[in-house]
Amino acid sequence: MKKVFVSDRLLEIPDSPIRKLAPFATAAQKQGITVLKLNIGDPDIKTPQVMLDQLTHWVKNPISYSASQGQPEFLKALEQYYHQLGFSYLKQNNIQITTGGSEAISLALFSICNPDDEVLVFEPFYANYQSFSVQNHVHLVPITTFGHNGFHLPPKKEILSHLTSRTKAILLCNPNNPTGTVFTKTEMDTIFSLAKEFNLFVISDEVYREFVYDGRKHISILEYMPKFPRQSILLDSLSKRYSLCGARLGTLVSLNPDLMTGVLRIARGRLSSGLVDQLMASKLTEVNENYFTAIINEYQTRRDVIFSGLSQIPGVYLTNPEGAFYLVVRLPVHDAEHFCKWLLTDFSYQDTTVMLAPAAGFYLTPDLGKNEVRIAYVINQDDLKKAILIISQALLKYQQLFPL
Ligand SMILES: Cc1ncc(COP(=O)(O)O)c(C=O)c1O
Repeated sequence: MKKVFVSDRLLEIPDSPIRKLAPFATAAQKQGITVLKLNIGDPDIKTPQVMLDQLTHWVKNPISYSASQGQPEFLKALEQYYHQLGFSYLKQNNIQITTGGSEAISLALFSICNPDDEVLVFEPFYANYQSFSVQNHVHLVPITTFGHNGFHLPPKKEILSHLTSRTKAILLCNPNNPTGTVFTKTEMDTIFSLAKEFNLFVISDEVYREFVYDGRKHISILEYMPKFPRQSILLDSLSKRYSLCGARLGTLVSLNPDLMTGVLRIARGRLSSGLVDQLMASKLTEVNENYFTAIINEYQTRRDVIFSGLSQIPGVYLTNPEGAFYLVVRLPVHDAEHFCKWLLTDFSYQDTTVMLAPAAGFYLTPDLGKNEVRIAYVINQDDLKKAILIISQALLKYQQLFPL
């Protein structure tokens, strides 16, 4: 009988380093172990009440499709959001609503790249970029950044050395997941000078826009967009900003009419994003203006707790993240993935353990990140302190079992 094979490209899709250890966490929980989840950026901060009220008072029946570009109330709310950020040139027709920022990433790659085109990306990068690139037959070309300078960009001539005739775009995540780096005006200027010189797209993933610390200013691609209307693409999401991870809402924003018309054709093919999600999120215009101030303070305090706590553990190396709610930490272990799994299968301290994301999956260059983990500080300060204690105890025991 003829065998039925799945595609070669399916086999190329990497598993998510953020989620692949989940079965071990579930097994630990079934044995009565509490697992503190630092592996995934699913915030514990509450979703704004004004959004939840939309669900409590839901009347629309039946729950229909929405418009393919987006539900009008939600588009209007987002237009207002971008205007309040100071970008009043943006109009609703520059915004495509997507099913999470995830869909926006995929749409952007598909829409600007022919098969086998290349996109420059700074590693470590958000691991799922690789999955979306493989799905869209795009090659990510990694340019390595390092902890010793806070994972900031290398000099222009190094970025330049990765350009080929197939390079189509530079993909940037700002503030960065997984490093927490916030790129400076000088770095953004460099990116756009390359884009100008070599006619490239710039894709900026800004799903953590608000989360910048120590009084830093976030430099958005929206500041460059009017000058580079055909080349700039903003990827955005409501998941982190309003603790709406389960609502699955994002946006792709561009002034390029060809891009937006094509993206809308794809959007029509997938009908629409969720109506309930969009109507709930359209209440963002009514969210209290102090909402972000309190949240940014909370994340910054957690950042301080985790940075100072982990810094005191012998053999641990990290740099102070400038934004988002992640950090990359080098551990005194050979194989961080083995350590992360061991934490779930073989270790607990006072019936509690921690779940971390091994960092190798955030790099494309082989062997990089093998002794690093990504940590998301999305749990409360007391639990975060507990997690630091557990990591320090676990490292003591692990090093006895598996010496360096
Ligand atoms: C940098 C970055 N971009 C995009 C996403 C996708 O988020 P969502 O699909 O929930 O909007 C995430 C999620 O963690 C992320 O960290």
